[in-house]
This record gives sequence, structure tokens and C-alpha cells, in this order.
Amino acid sequence: MKIGIPKENYPGERRVAGTPATVERLGKMGFAVLIETGAGEGAAFPNELYVEAGATLAATPEALWSEADIVLKVRPPMALPDGRHEADFLDEQMTLISFIWPAQSQELLDRLATRKANVFAMDMIPRISRAQKMDALSSMANIGGYRAVLEAASFFGRFFTGQMTAAGRVEPAKVLIIGAGVAGLSAIGTARNMGAIVRAFDTRPSVKEQVESMGAEYLTVELEEDGTGQGGYARTMSKEFIEAEIALFKEQAAEVDIIITTALIPGKPAPLLITREVVEALKPGSVIVDLAAETGGNCELTKPAEVVKHKGVTIVGYVDMPSRLAPTASQLYGSNLCHLLDDMGGAAEWRIDEEDAVVRGALVLRDGEMKWPPPKIEPSPQATPSPEQVKPMMPVVDPVQKAKKRGAVTAVSMLFIALLLLAVGARAPEDFLNHFTVFVLAVFVGWQVIWDVTPALHTPLMSVTNAISGIILVGGMLQLTGPLNSPVTLLAGIAVLVATINIAGGFLVTQRMLAMFRK
Ligand code: NAI
Repeated sequence: MKIGIPKENYPGERRVAGTPATVERLGKMGFAVLIETGAGEGAAFPNELYVEAGATLAATPEALWSEADIVLKVRPPMALPDGRHEADFLDEQMTLISFIWPAQSQELLDRLATRKANVFAMDMIPRISRAQKMDALSSMANIGGYRAVLEAASFFGRFFTGQMTAAGRVEPAKVLIIGAGVAGLSAIGTARNMGAIVRAFDTRPSVKEQVESMGAEYLTVELEEDGTGQGGYARTMSKEFIEAEIALFKEQAAEVDIIITTALIPGKPAPLLITREVVEALKPGSVIVDLAAETGGNCELTKPAEVVKHKGVTIVGYVDMPSRLAPTASQLYGSNLCHLLDDMGGAAEWRIDEEDAVVRGALVLRDGEMKWPPPKIEPSPQATPSPEQVKPMMPVVDPVQKAKKRGAVTAVSMLFIALLLLAVGARAPEDFLNHFTVFVLAVFVGWQVIWDVTPALHTPLMSVTNAISGIILVGGMLQLTGPLNSPVTLLAGIAVLVATINIAGGFLVTQRMLAMFRK
């Protein structure tokens, strides 16, 4: 199977859908790769590196599109400078994987549908745990947040870090990050690493811990309102809450030097949070970087793709942050694509499996048939849907009746367990009873410890289970002294083996999780 990677034609776009490293990976997955001459130049990847990685060069877009079975792109198909449209190069049986933004691109979808090809939108990869490695939006937002801090630093006339020099003391910069999603958290990490004092605000209380664990201060407003929406994304806040936020930002503006805004509600215009009044409350020389510029901007004075000056404050509205870090953006995007292709079976077992939630989520057109929008995916465990979103699937049960019924069942089972224990107590030898009491208590304590623990707390839970396994291990080792063929030794051996596996596995998983947070 042949993969084609064309040169991006969008003005100023430096990213490319494959780097020499990802091309090599595609080769190992069994694909032959064709790349348009000069496709990687903007991201500092010359043609020779691609050839060394096993790709073949295609001199023109036609040569590339006519030979490829799967075309990988960054930007949605667009008109070339000579007037031809990239969508028209697609043919039946071909597959295009790229950013598409289907909700905003009806005309493009209609055009693509006439080509009877398969089209996947990388911006529609569902944000579920399994799909994290294919989540191109997160990859780009991570870069966007990092680059936003660098842009702010370049317009800001002072150090980020505080310094005590022979000439005197330099105060550290104060940075306010609004919206602690992927881009916001990345900006917090970058600004902290550069030595700034960082404060952050978000409408979803669940991000408080993440913000604080990165060394930033989490700001709150007096009003209590949970901004968590479906699938863990944010939802639109009430007018009163937005007003309280604006008041908070105005108060903060008197103190902070830099504001980076990333507030976004999927499918909606960005909320307006930095009014003209807030901008004017900032000290001259301050900088605002508005990452939401493309969806209307969080700042009233933002002009998309431009840098605006207002009373000494610089407002940066760049909409191409990932492209400004093209080598890394191309590498991460290329990796996201490799993971998706791998999920779809690689070259040997390539298939479009609509049962696969990730593939179905990203599928926009199949043989020209419209597949967008995909069916809704169940919200993540943290997301609590609002009452109006929960439509009863079964006849509604009266909660009081239900609680009564549950109480009766519990009482019957407790009575049964008590009778069983009495029967055991009356008949079993004393030696057995001692052990049995400890066993019952251990089961009860273990059940109390583990039951009802939310998935978010599974990591600390693992340390508790590791501690319990440690006790089992010691107990098992003490019992290993008897003859080899006795049931006690056998059981103790099993206990030692299982507890060791649990402890070693626990450490391995913990180490892997910690590695995810290490630089
Ligand atoms: P995300 O959905 O993960 O995060 C958005 C965050 O904003 C969420 O944590 C949400 O709770 C928060 N939020 C929503 N309403 C809010 C409010 N009223 N006040 C405070 N916080 C609020 O999105 P992600 O992936 O982090 O992207 C953030 C933004 O950055 C998006 O608008 C994205 O398009 C943009 N972006 C822009 C780039 C550029 O070149 N300018 C590059 C990459 C991302």
C-alpha cells in the first residue's frame, strides 16, 4: 500500500504530515511512502533525509495523488495556486487523512463526497484514553501552549525569572493563564520552568489539582458553578459567572504582567473574558496572548493572526502557533498518524472498522457516503452529565421505593451471612476459627478500602494494595517452613507468588505513570 505526503499549500504553513522518523516507521509498518519534493522544507527536513528514511520523491502534486492509496495531510484540502483543488485529486478507493473541521466545512465535505473516497478528520479523533496517542488536537494544543509563552516572552521587556544581581533585585514576571486544558497546562509548565510566578483559572474544578501540582496558584471566584460539560469538556457558564470571572481578571490585571488565554467550549465561539476594561487595567508593557483568537478570541481587542498594541499592552492573536514550531509539530502529528494507521491494521491488514470507536469518530466520508457526525461516545468517568442530558432508558423507578428494596435485600443477605458464620462457628475446630476470624476481618477491611474508590484515585490505591500485598508476602513466607507437599505450604507458595506479582506490577505501572510526567 502506498502512502502519499503532499506539500502543504496553505500560506505560511510550515508543518508536514510526516518526518523522516515517521516515514521510517511507516516503512516498518509495511507501507511504501511517496513524498512531494520540498514537502518538509518548512519544518527543516530536506528531501535527502526522506529518501534516506526510505521514501520516494514525487515531483508534482499529480504524481503524488495519482499513485497514493492513502494521502496524509495537515490542512484540509484546498485550492492550489494554479486554481486546481486538492480535493479533486482524490479518487474512488483512495483515503485521505487530515484535519478537516467538518462542522465548519460543509462546502468542502460536498466537494469531497463527489470523489467517492474515504475521508478521516484528525480533529474528530475522540478524546478517550485509548485514543490519546492519536489525539492530534492535544498534540497541537500542547505546542500552542508552549509557544504562547515564548511569544509572550518575546514581546515582554523583562526577565521571567526573578534575579538577585550585583546591580539590584529583579522581580519575577507574574503570568495568568485562563483555561487549564491541554494548551493551558502546557503554558503553565513552560512559564513555571522559565521562573515566572504563575496563576491559573478554569471553570472545571477537577483541574485544580493538576494546576497546583505544576506549581501554579489556582484562582477561584466567589460564585460556585461547575463548568464540567459532556465528555469532560467545558460547558457555557452563566452570565453571572462570566461577570464574576471578568471582575477577578480585572483585579488580577493590576498585578500580573502576562495573560495567556486558552478558554474554549467545543463547537461554540470562545467566551469573552478579557474586556477592554481588563486590558486597560494592565500595566503598560504587559502582554496578552489569545490562543482562542481563531474561534473569536477571549479578549475583546484581539485581531486574529495579528499583533495589536493598546495603551502599551501587546495583544498577540497568532493562529498558527504549532506551525511556528514546525519540526516538533510535524513529528508529533506524524506520530499521531502512525498510531492511527497502526490501529487500522497497518499495510498488511488495512481495514476501516466502524466498530472501532476511534476510527468511527474520525470517519467523515466512506466511499463518498457522509458519516459525520459520528454517534456520541459515552462521557469519560469524571464527566457527570447534567440531569437534562440523562434521558431515562428504562421506566423511571421511584428512588424511595428503590432504596427500600435495596435495604430489604441487604438485610436478607446480612442475615444469611450471620447464619452461615454461626454454623461455621458451631462446627469448625478452634484453630481454624482463629484463622477464619482474621480472614473475615481482612476481607471486610480490604472491601472497605477498595470499594467506591473513583478511577482518578486508582494510583494512590495501588500503594495501599501494595502495602496489603507486602503483609501477605511476609505472612506467606512465614508459612513456607512446612513439608513441600502440605496444603499449607502450597497455599503459602501461591500467596507469595501472587503478592510478588502484584507488588512488582504495581511498581512497574507506577514507574510508567511517573515517566509520563517526567521531562
Ligand atoms: P481544551 O478544551 O482542552 O481546554 C479549554 C479550557 O478552557 C478547558 O479547560 C475549559 O474548562 C476552559 N474554559 C472554558 N470556558 C472557560 C471560562 N469561561 N473561563 C475559564 N476557563 C474556561 O482545549 P485545548 O486543546 O487546551 O485548546 C485551548 C485553545 O487553544 C483552543 O481554543 C484551541 O483552538 C487553541 N489553540 C490555538 C492555537 C493557536 O495557534 N492559536 C494552537 C493550539 C490550540
